[in-house]
Amino acid sequence: MNILSNSIDALLKLDNQIQKQIVIKTEVTELETVIITFRDNGDGIDAEIQSKIFEPFFTIKPINKATGLGLAISHQIIEKHQGNIQLKSEFGYGTEFAIEIPIALAVNHKSDT
Ligand SMILES: Nc1ncnc2c1ncn2[C@@H]1O[C@H](COP(=O)(O)OP(=O)(O)OP(=O)(O)O)[C@@H](O)[C@H]1O
Ligand SMILES: [Mg+2]
Repeated sequence: MNILSNSIDALLKLDNQIQKQIVIKTEVTELETVIITFRDNGDGIDAEIQSKIFEPFFTIKPINKATGLGLAISHQIIEKHQGNIQLKSEFGYGTEFAIEIPIALAVNHKSDT
């Protein structure tokens, strides 16, 4: 939901001339993981801030409109599932986030012997 609402925010900023799009793709890999990809054709994320977007409270939105917690929370949830999230974005050409999570969590097998 946080990733989707960021895409919606980005698309709402654009003028209405272009065809606004959010594309969600899912796939199961041979490594028994699922990859969920979210792509929008908004204005993208400036290279200078790409390293900061997962930090808690980082936002470039107006102070009373955002907490800057959306991606920090998403990142935390995905880590708990032993997964990862990757950003592909070029300023002016949209944004793509790919989330990969294992289908079954790895279990720590303890042995007494
Ligand atoms: N799809 C996107 N298009 C453009 N910029 C994005 C996109 N997704 C994230 N960002 C950038 O990453 C920043 C951090 O996102 P995050 O969701 O963590 O916080 P926020 O949206 O600003 O606030 P909150 O989600 O807490 O209301 C955003 O302020 C925005 O600059
Ligand atoms: Mg957000």
